[in-house]
Amino acid sequence: MEVAAGSAKIRLMMGDITKVPVDVVVNAANSDLIGGGGVDGAVHRAGGPSIMLELNRIRPVNGCPTGGAVVTGAGNLPAKFVVHAVGPIWRGGRSGEDLDLASAYKTSLELASARGAATVSFPSISTGAYGYPAGLAAAVALSTVAEFLRAGTSPIREVVFVLFDEGTLRAYEKALAGLRGGACAP
Ligand code: APR
Repeated sequence: MEVAAGSAKIRLMMGDITKVPVDVVVNAANSDLIGGGGVDGAVHRAGGPSIMLELNRIRPVNGCPTGGAVVTGAGNLPAKFVVHAVGPIWRGGRSGEDLDLASAYKTSLELASARGAATVSFPSISTGAYGYPAGLAAAVALSTVAEFLRAGTSPIREVVFVLFDEGTLRAYEKALAGLRGGACAP
C-alpha cells in the first residue's frame, strides 16, 4: 500500500528492515545506544561491528534523550547510513509519549535529509519492547512523516515502513487509510 505526500510517497510493506535497500535505515534504539533485541539486535547483527564501534565514539555522555537520534554508517547493511532513533516507553499515554514518538520520527527525517537521502526506511518505533499500542503509534508515525514530506523541503522521495508482522502492518494500513481521507483548509 502506498500514498502520495507532496511530491514524495509513503509505502507500507511487511518484512525485515535489514534486507530492504534504502539510503537511510532507521533503527529503534535505546537512550544508551548500546544495542538490544528487536530491530536494534537485527540492525547490529546484519550491519556488523562497525556500527557499535562508531556509536562508542559518538555516544553523548548522558546518552541520547527520548525523541532524539544519532547517525552512523551502515556497515554491511544495504544502506548508506543508520539513524538510531530513541522512541518513548509506553506509560499509559499521559506522559507525552505521542510528542516524543513524533519527535523521534521528525528528528530521523531531518538527519536523513541532511545526509541527502532520497529513500528512508522506518520500523514501527516503540511498539515492540517499549509497548506503545500499534494503532496509536501508527497514527503518530504516519501523520508526522506525511506532514514532513508535504512541506517539500527535503530530498526524501520515498519513506517505506517495513513492518515485521501482520498485525502491525494492518494497524499501519488502517492509519494510512485514515490519513488519505479529505482535508479541510485552515
Ligand atoms: N525488521 C522490522 N521490524 C522489526 C524487526 C526487523 N528485523 N525486528 C523486530 N521488528 C519490529 C517489532 O516486531 C516491533 O513491531 O519492530 C517493532 C519495534 O520493536 P522493538 O525493536 O522492540 O523496538 P521498541 O519497541 O522501540 O523498543 C526499543 O528494544 O531491544 C530494544 O535496544 C532496543 O531497548 C530498545 C528497545
